[in-house]
Amino acid sequence: MEPKQVLSLDEIDLSAPEFWGRPWDEREGAFQTLRRERPMSFYAEPDTQGLVPQGPGYWAVTKHADILRASREPNLFCSSKGATSIPDLPEMFLEFFGAFINMDDPKHMRQRKLVSGGFTRQRLKKLDHDVERIARECLDAVIEKGECDFVTELCAPFPIRIICEMLGIPQSQHQFVFDQTNIILGAGDPEYVPEGSDIAQVLIGAGMALRTLMNELGEERKKKPTDDLTSLLINAEIGGDKLSPEDLASFFILLVVAGNETTRNAISHGVKALHDYPAQKQIWKDDFDNVSQTAIDEVVRWASPVIFMRRTTTRACELGGQQLSEGEKLVLFYASANRDEDVFDDAFRFDVRRTPNEHVGFGGPGPHFCLGANLARREIGIFFRQLFDRMPDLEITGPPERLASNFIHGIKHMPCRFTPGPISG
Ligand code: HEM
Repeated sequence: MEPKQVLSLDEIDLSAPEFWGRPWDEREGAFQTLRRERPMSFYAEPDTQGLVPQGPGYWAVTKHADILRASREPNLFCSSKGATSIPDLPEMFLEFFGAFINMDDPKHMRQRKLVSGGFTRQRLKKLDHDVERIARECLDAVIEKGECDFVTELCAPFPIRIICEMLGIPQSQHQFVFDQTNIILGAGDPEYVPEGSDIAQVLIGAGMALRTLMNELGEERKKKPTDDLTSLLINAEIGGDKLSPEDLASFFILLVVAGNETTRNAISHGVKALHDYPAQKQIWKDDFDNVSQTAIDEVVRWASPVIFMRRTTTRACELGGQQLSEGEKLVLFYASANRDEDVFDDAFRFDVRRTPNEHVGFGGPGPHFCLGANLARREIGIFFRQLFDRMPDLEITGPPERLASNFIHGIKHMPCRFTPGPISG
């Protein structure tokens, strides 16, 4: 893919919805222009249609080095004013939807410690069998048909089922959880929230529905623990710290939101990339285990499913040569850093053997680095192995339909075809 520079520096407006509707190569071209000519640029905030008051604007941080620095210095560049949204949201909203992704240390560290027991190497290893089974079942659901919508029919059920099973949510509730997370992340897209709806109400409704579900499950697991993550979390205690029922519900929302669309989009973009670069597909297929060690991270770099995360300055400082005062918003464009020509050789080449690959698809090095990164890597590896084994000739038969969002680099639909095969034994 070659970036296309159709916009001049002053025509680029990262807050305009039309910008995010442009073809990918034009968007990439604009970020290339920004990295080269104005790596820290200031924008008025996106119009929230009265949902929250218009804020003072933000700095778009587009260079890899500046994003690394902001990630490494959380005391200067904090998350507690909001990490996942450019406009300021009411505090209750931040904790409710974002849990500790919207907190700073020491509160962030205490909560992250409490839940990280669910993501140890040992626990993930034990989960591998389930991940494999779920991947197999996802393929089984379509393999006899010979064609399907890769996103909705094949790939989307995969990560959400893994999280639901990890948490011990009954299968009858999986679709319900999936629908609520789509609303929370796709609030800007009319496919998920019809135009004219009261977005705040719809969002709160989806959050409350997930919260009720988790409270009920938490109560059950308190009385009768099993070996699922909910039981571990509800009973976890470190140095006198315990998760309150509200914390638990918010963490659940964070998990289903953070671990669902991200992995789904990484896989969808990865499949599209392998379709566009068949030689790379062959390299990976021919030596799956070895090449996976680099290919999986290249898929995440290429996809950059999370376009940005926000930080706010805690005092006057400098970043990327720009003087900043206290309380300024910085939007760290991870997707731009992942194409930074100063860091990646031939940044627009999809290369399954790319090494080194210091992408920031899972965030920069710092306290907020993705808690689920290793789980996501295993999920991606296991899914591609199944695809290569059981649908070796899978091809994409139409253009991907994109999610209207400046936050999630999403594919909503993508038609595919493959030689039909049998359901697994
Ligand atoms: C390819 C898939 C994934 C991508 C691209 C991704 C991306 C990210 C990014 C960019 C952040 C950084 C937030 C920041 O800078 O403030 C993050 C944080 C987080 N992710 Fe992921 N993620 C993925 C999969 C997952 C999965 C599978 C889970 C769990 C099931 C998960 C759970 C989390 C959590 C809990 C945080 C918050 C960490 C903190 O604030 O301490 N993610 N993720």
